[in-house]
Amino acid sequence: MIKFTLITGASSGIGLEMAKVCAEKGMNLLLISLPKEDLEAKSISIATKYKIKAEHFECDLTEISDINNLVKWVEENGFNVNFLINNAGFGGTKSFDEMGEGYINKMIDLNIKATTHVMNKFMPLLKSNSPSRILNVSSIISNLVAPYKSLYAATKTYVINISLSLAYELREQGISVSVLLPGATPTNKVVSNQIEQGAYAARATVMSANEVARIAVDKTLKGKIIITTGIKNGLIRKLISALPHRLSALLAINQYKKQKSNDELNRN
Ligand SMILES: NC(=O)c1ccc[n+]([C@@H]2O[C@H](COP(=O)([O-])OP(=O)(O)OC[C@H]3O[C@@H](n4cnc5c(N)ncnc54)[C@H](OP(=O)(O)O)[C@@H]3O)[C@@H](O)[C@H]2O)c1
Repeated sequence: MIKFTLITGASSGIGLEMAKVCAEKGMNLLLISLPKEDLEAKSISIATKYKIKAEHFECDLTEISDINNLVKWVEENGFNVNFLINNAGFGGTKSFDEMGEGYINKMIDLNIKATTHVMNKFMPLLKSNSPSRILNVSSIISNLVAPYKSLYAATKTYVINISLSLAYELREQGISVSVLLPGATPTNKVVSNQIEQGAYAARATVMSANEVARIAVDKTLKGKIIITTGIKNGLIRKLISALPHRLSALLAINQYKKQKSNDELNRN
């Protein structure tokens, strides 16, 4: 029976690199992203290069109806999913009073709700194709005090928390659950800008999307539950966690102010 790995947010960044790493290992792929991101061409190119099967589906995961359509597409085509990678998500630095209703809803809908619904709705398939795996993408910032990244850090804390509980609950049903905590990865303008502007935490943890993807897939296949990207990033996370809250908050606030004044200077 042919098995498939489903990857959300596969059109760019860490998701696209995870697709290539999985294809290199001979896995067949179902690639998911928003429409109009050239996903079809990327899917064909990966399938041809690595001689695997790759299909794609474009949808907006913040819409529950789109998630239902995705599940329907997988079921109707008889794709046997035994590896689900919940990667789609977004972050950013923003003061709380500047977050509008749309920003708040989109971040919660994608980072929290979509991650949860996708896992939940794929449970029957993952169970029937067990042994199966789920890899959820959180962040090095999860569980940390993060002023000006408050909503992002909170959504990624949700992801690590639910993943940890499910790792033990779903093990009983033949499904392993892993959670990835990437540091700064220059995938899009928001993160590249933060790294360029010298955010200390971003610079210290920076790693290419390909390196992150390789570590993530390898460790998931080994059944590791919490995946930090390398010894250095694991240590940095432990160090920041060990700081008194007021100190880690102060570092983040100073960084935000520095970045804001740089942005203003660049605009003038
Ligand atoms: N980059 C970092 O420094 C970093 C650090 C820690 C954690 N992470 C996490 O790693 C994951 C991947 O991040 P990345 O940096 O690789 O991001 P990215 O390059 O911006 O890619 C995000 C992917 O998610 C897809 N996506 C966004 N909104 C979607 C929606 N509503 N429905 C369906 N797909 C959607 C995008 O599709 P389109 O291309 O169609 O928009 C794209 O494929 C995220 O969960 C992020 O929070 C990133």
